[in-house]
Amino acid sequence: MERIGVLTSGGDASGMNACIRAVVRTAVSRGVAVVGIRRGYDGLIRGDAVPMDAESVGGILNRGGTLLYTARSSRFLSREGQQEAVDSLSRLGIEGLVIIGGEGSLRGARALGSDWGVPVVGVPATIDNDVAGTDFAIGFDTAVNVALEAIDKIRDTAASHERVFVIEVMGREVGFIALEVGLAGGAEAILLPEVPVDLDAVSQRIVEGRRRGKTSSIIVVAEGCCSAVEVGRRIHERTGLETRETILGHIQRGGTPTARDRVLAARLGHAAVEQLLQGRRAAMVGVSGSAVQASDIDAAWKIGKTIDLSLYRLAQVLAI
Ligand code: F6P
Repeated sequence: MERIGVLTSGGDASGMNACIRAVVRTAVSRGVAVVGIRRGYDGLIRGDAVPMDAESVGGILNRGGTLLYTARSSRFLSREGQQEAVDSLSRLGIEGLVIIGGEGSLRGARALGSDWGVPVVGVPATIDNDVAGTDFAIGFDTAVNVALEAIDKIRDTAASHERVFVIEVMGREVGFIALEVGLAGGAEAILLPEVPVDLDAVSQRIVEGRRRGKTSSIIVVAEGCCSAVEVGRRIHERTGLETRETILGHIQRGGTPTARDRVLAARLGHAAVEQLLQGRRAAMVGVSGSAVQASDIDAAWKIGKTIDLSLYRLAQVLAI
């Protein structure tokens, strides 16, 4: 393989740049040329490409976002769009592709690899952490730490005013971010799409906490579960306590990647290139425990990814 491409797709995640750097520098060290494809699958269809070398990825290791830009492409979902992408790859002389992104992006990688025979390796990068085949996706740790810092700050004002704060975090249809920050931030309640919501029980827990001397209450809500504003209103109705709501939003996608995300990005970016050079197609790389692993994208999806409910139970025990 003499030339590979790399692109980022879907919602940006902090650590994508560190991953691009790892891909480019691993390829360069193996004597393989690299082309950066800008703006995800849309850019691939249009042939929006730039040559990359070791210097072009200098100074980006600690920067959030992605220097290749990113997009969500509706065109690529169609067979015609995929045909255009395949034609573009052959025009650009790209023999293998590293695709860095979340669940939807890796579905695209699967299509290119399995349906069109393009050598493709996917690298999971999404704050949602909802990609099967890996314990952690790039960007999740940073998003959790950004949200946690915000929650710690909110706790100060919540305690001063003796209020209940309902804080909504991202995560699309899943509760990985909410569970992690809820546990780390000592939330009095965590509302997840994966667990039926019982606001009577939550209200009772908060009232009992007040009786025992608690001065503040934090409820972390996953966006895929319910609206923070609605939860705040209903908790106020049930408890009579003063409530406030905060939606953390896109702040969770930005910021300097944590050391953990940079190391993950370095390991997975490197492994993706090695897998391509070994002739893998429709594969993805990920971590299982402390080991980097490569798997077939289809096989990973069959196993699926679910939250660890024991962490949810632990959070409930500790939040009395
Ligand atoms: O998938 C990442 C994510 O940040 C989700 O958590 C969120 O639901 C979504 O993207 C927001 O998408 P957009 O940036 O297109 O509004």
